[in-house]
Amino acid sequence: MPNFVFIATSLDGYIAKSDGSIDWLSEIPNPDNSDYGYNDFIKNIDAILMGRTTFEKVLTFGSWPYDKSVFVISSSLKSVDKKLKDKVEIVNGSLESIMKSINSRNLINLYIDGGKTIQSFLKKDLIDEMIITKIPVLLGNGIPMFSDTGIELKFEHVNTNIFSGGLVQSHYKRIRN
Ligand SMILES: NC(=O)c1ccc[n+]([C@@H]2O[C@H](COP(=O)([O-])OP(=O)(O)OC[C@H]3O[C@@H](n4cnc5c(N)ncnc54)[C@H](OP(=O)(O)O)[C@@H]3O)[C@@H](O)[C@H]2O)c1
Repeated sequence: MPNFVFIATSLDGYIAKSDGSIDWLSEIPNPDNSDYGYNDFIKNIDAILMGRTTFEKVLTFGSWPYDKSVFVISSSLKSVDKKLKDKVEIVNGSLESIMKSINSRNLINLYIDGGKTIQSFLKKDLIDEMIITKIPVLLGNGIPMFSDTGIELKFEHVNTNIFSGGLVQSHYKRIRN
């Protein structure tokens, strides 16, 4: 701990179209060539923990985009391509045991990515901060950011930035007391 989320969603709460496509994220005009705070966010992250589906999407990017250790949570993947062997590790088991094992390597600030993965962390109250960027589009359907977790979790609002193109980015911190 702490575990961070940094993600973009449509106005209707989807992180990808039903077929997994995320082209709509890069279709917003970005005249200032903004990174929407990503570099400031990632520099404080020790490692990334992502779901298998997000990992498979990242593999289609052409080049590997991360210079941090990446852990892929999956019960179906058994290995990764040779060229990613030093960069990516597959993990499974309970979230508590996965976290314990990653944290024991002195990897403390974790970026949790992928819808189902974030949802499973929220179900166990294992998310501490969320930076959510709303893209001004209604996708109509797709892969949801949130699902029914069955528990109420309170967050405090830290700040909101508005970027050109109408992107609204809000930072929330879990209130624990
Ligand atoms: N808009 C954005 O900023 C953004 C960010 C990230 C991703 N995305 C998009 O979101 C889509 C992927 O999200 P998603 O919700 O479909 O899936 P996901 O969370 O990336 O991956 C789900 C898979 O991860 C494994 N997994 C997750 N939690 C687990 C747990 N607690 N225990 C064991 N395995 C677990 C399972 O793989 P196995 O079936 O192998 O067990 C599960 O099927 C992609 O299209 C991606 O491009 C968008």
